[in-house]
Amino acid sequence: MSRVALVTGASRGIGFECALQLAKAGVHVVALARTKAGLEQLDDAIHAAGGMCTLLPYDLLKGDLIEGLGPVLFDKFGRLDILVGNAGMLGGLQPTAQVDPSLWDRVFALNVTANLRLIRTCDPLLRASDSGRAVFVTSGKAHNYTSFWAAYSASKAALEALALTYADEVKHTPLKVNVFNPGKTATAMRAQAFPGEDPKTLPSAADTAARLIAEHLS
Ligand SMILES: NC(=O)c1ccc[n+]([C@@H]2O[C@H](COP(=O)([O-])OP(=O)(O)OC[C@H]3O[C@@H](n4cnc5c(N)ncnc54)[C@H](OP(=O)(O)O)[C@@H]3O)[C@@H](O)[C@H]2O)c1
Repeated sequence: MSRVALVTGASRGIGFECALQLAKAGVHVVALARTKAGLEQLDDAIHAAGGMCTLLPYDLLKGDLIEGLGPVLFDKFGRLDILVGNAGMLGGLQPTAQVDPSLWDRVFALNVTANLRLIRTCDPLLRASDSGRAVFVTSGKAHNYTSFWAAYSASKAALEALALTYADEVKHTPLKVNVFNPGKTATAMRAQAFPGEDPKTLPSAADTAARLIAEHLS
């Protein structure tokens, strides 16, 4: 049976390209995001390339429902070889003193807690693989603190602490866990943060996804 990957945030941007490239390499991709149109576009691209995927329209802000994912994947595949925790949100840019606590909570719920829940539910499946890989998509903002980025920066710093602690816990097993910083990439999120920037001057999502796969999943 081919390798099985769960990619979150696969409806556009880096996650879309990562899912497509993994599928082109023969991996059965389980593609998760909320936007069905984006997932269907991915499905078309994967099938046109002769690959296989399962679409999972799913809102990672739906809290403990995420924890039902592991059993569903176990029933269908029996294991998980690759987890790409890529879905994320910017949450807007505001002076720290004006950050809306409910928006802060949503940013943390998606960028951090959803990944904890994915780890909780996918850990037995990843350990069932003979070469499990989990990679969580972080940002330079996890370490580089600039005005107006408090919620996003704090969430990515927390994500790194979560993922790298998990990495240490599994370091004597075949499962390898890491974080990946994409750097500037031409996506919807980047355009939201830097609306005046010409996306043609940036690396494409396809280039960034290729780097993620080469560095962590090959
Ligand atoms: N682009 C950059 O320059 C850059 C730089 C550093 C780090 N990053 C990181 O790279 C990752 C991918 O970002 P991107 O630039 O590709 O952004 P993007 O184009 O905005 O894509 C974000 C993805 O996350 C999904 N998502 C958002 N909310 C979700 C939810 N509640 N449930 C499920 N999925 C959800 C979106 O799908 P739906 O809206 O369909 O749900 C979409 O597929 C993020 O973690 C981001 O922080 C990006």
